[in-house]
Formats: sequence, structure tokens, C-alpha cells
Amino acid sequence: MYDKKVEKVLITREQIEKRTDELAKRISEDYKGKRLIMICVLTGAMVFFADLIRKIDVPLEVDTIVASSYGSGTTTSGSVRISKDIKYDISGKSVILVEDIIDTGVTLKTLTKMLMTRAPESLRVCALLDKPSRRKVDFEGDYVGFSIPDEFVVGYGLDYAEQYRNLPEVCIYRPDGE
Ligand code: IMP
Ligand code: MG
Repeated sequence: MYDKKVEKVLITREQIEKRTDELAKRISEDYKGKRLIMICVLTGAMVFFADLIRKIDVPLEVDTIVASSYGSGTTTSGSVRISKDIKYDISGKSVILVEDIIDTGVTLKTLTKMLMTRAPESLRVCALLDKPSRRKVDFEGDYVGFSIPDEFVVGYGLDYAEQYRNLPEVCIYRPDGE
């Protein structure tokens, strides 16, 4: 299944599973007695989201959002827009936005700013991965799975040109590999 551009496994299934358990436990404790709306940022976060929500033991509803950034390849350009909005009214609600990776931070900064205008009771961000060395805007996730070096990664929902989302672990991708 792997081609030579997929260089090596950075995070194994076992590591992902263990860390997802930990994040879900923290979320379950932090939101005890609350009702939660969890928003999956499509498409990259869908695999992580599906695993995460099944480990959370407070009542929750799920919603989805699609953000598109202009630009292609392995970087995010400056402007992000919402191409599919959530269906719920989040005003007064406890909301967690779930993303695959925080890279420059532009996507999540834009999304959280926009969602905050709808007056949720609270809004936090959970991301599987974080590349802090790539940040262009000031942004921090509230629940972060793994902090990783500046490498392009694929698998477990993350893609390169829409490929590799189905790999079960997080792998380093090298476009010039043969
Ligand atoms: P940001 O706006 O730069 O933080 O970019 C976030 C988005 O860029 C993520 O939701 C991913 O879709 C994409 N992205 C950033 N780094 C990677 C990566 O290493 N692999 C796959 N997608 C990535
Ligand atoms: Mg994404």
C-alpha cells in the first residue's frame, strides 16, 4: 500500500490509540455534566474524529465544517473560507472543534474567530498533530495529540493531493522520493 514517497512511520497506530484515549479522558472530565457539540473539520480530521468521539463518555452531538484555503500542494495560503458551514446554532453551547493538524495556524485562527461571533458558551480546539515551528499566526490548541517536527505527513486522514488518507498510521511524505 505504501509507495516510496511515504518514507517512514512517524506515529504508530498504538501511539495514536493511546494518545486518543488520553485526550478523550481529559475531554470527558472537563465536560462532565455538560452537553457537547463536537465539530469535525473535514476532510482531514474525519479518521481522528471518528476514533476520538467513541472514547468520550459525555453526551455529545456531532457536526461538520469544511474550510478551504486558496493554494495547493503542501502549504496553506493566506486566505481561508468556509465552504460548508455547521448545521447547529452553537450560541450558548460548549463546542470543541476537531482538526487534523495545526500548521501555520491560519485555518484554525480563522475558523475559531468566525465561530466565536456566534457566542458559544465555550469553544476549544482539539488537534491530533501540531507543527509549532511552522506557525505564522499566534494560535494554540487546547487538546493536542502530538507535537511534530517540520515534515509533511500523510495518513490517518491526512492527505497529499487527496491521497493516503487511508493509511492507518501517520507517515512522513517526501514528494521527491522515488
Ligand atoms: P494551517 O492553516 O496552515 O494551520 O493548515 C492546516 C491545514 O493544512 C490542515 O488542516 C491540513 O489540511 C493541511 N496540512 C498542514 N500540514 C499538513 C501535513 O503535514 N500533511 C497534510 N496536511 C497538512
Ligand atoms: Mg485540513
